[in-house]
Amino acid sequence: MSQRISLTRYLVEKQRVDGHIPSQLRLLIEIVARACKSISHAVNKGALGGVLGTAGSENVQGEVQKKLDIIANEVLIEANEWGGHLAAMASEEMDSIYVVPNRYPQGEYLLLFDPLDGSSNIDVNVSIGTIFSVLKMPEDDRGVDEGDFLQPGHRQVAAGYCVYGPQTTLVLTVGDGVAMFTLDREQGSFVLTQEDVRIPADTKEFAINMSNMRHWDAPVKRYVDECLQGKEGPRGKDFNMRWIASMVADVHRILTRGGIFMYPWDKREPDKPGKLRLMYEANPMSWLVEQAGGAATNGRERILDIQPSKLHERVSVILGSKNEVERVTQYHREA
Ligand code: AHG
Ligand code: MN
Ligand code: MN
Ligand code: MN
Repeated sequence: MSQRISLTRYLVEKQRVDGHIPSQLRLLIEIVARACKSISHAVNKGALGGVLGTAGSENVQGEVQKKLDIIANEVLIEANEWGGHLAAMASEEMDSIYVVPNRYPQGEYLLLFDPLDGSSNIDVNVSIGTIFSVLKMPEDDRGVDEGDFLQPGHRQVAAGYCVYGPQTTLVLTVGDGVAMFTLDREQGSFVLTQEDVRIPADTKEFAINMSNMRHWDAPVKRYVDECLQGKEGPRGKDFNMRWIASMVADVHRILTRGGIFMYPWDKREPDKPGKLRLMYEANPMSWLVEQAGGAATNGRERILDIQPSKLHERVSVILGSKNEVERVTQYHREA
């Protein structure tokens, strides 16, 4: 790119030229990006910053919290609570919603986040990230409560993630395609490095935690079996497999070169719809993927159409290259 376009300029132009985002939403995205920059610095310090290891506590889903899960959560809250753009926040690491304290003005947006995705990769120096989703308060609402967050994913007004890997990359949609920004550490700003990201409709690469194979449902087994048969099987081509165990990094690969990502329901926890969280992980990622021409379902329906019934709701996730996601979804219909 000959002329460097910063995230700030990109957003200002989205607001001014395209009339696409209101100023409060622009502010919100800038603040989230600033928080991600500061999380990125903490991640980079690693052992030198004393940020590795567990914190000795558990979150509402019974996961052991890492120090960085808590640090990232605090950074996001502190960055966002005073700006006047938010009514409340919700996070994978907090039991209930965080209402903006009344010493600050209240705005009309709701921010949801997975402050640190890929916790099991923190201590081993593998890519991790932050995922966020933005909703609007329902109209004529008197006082924010948890119910205001329970909106289907197609109502999101912005969504994105920041991946902390060899580069720190922020990926964003406000509903008119997907743009990627790389952090320039010398300048301290995110620079637009790719616009109009597209996911190829076909792929030869799948991502799933294969160690759970014996627990999967028949349609998922069928799909992966056929991939594994390669050229000699019904698919007539060889497949490659990748599993980073950080959804951000796996989705980032898919946005970059295509592929399919699955974390399906399985028999280990038959009463839970899946492992991943609808509001903090599946919805923002599904919107990004759809905005890049891909698809996202839970095997039966479009993820963005699911009406959440609780904040920490979980969901089965199949997303990525359109034709592959449609195939897995078709296998579910036939079952
Ligand atoms: P989190 O670290 O936010 O709890 O999310 C971890 C998720 C997701 O990032 C990843 O795809 C998946 O869990 C990995 O699960 P396995 O350890 O079962 O592979
Ligand atoms: Mn977690
Ligand atoms: Mn996560
Ligand atoms: Mn997390």
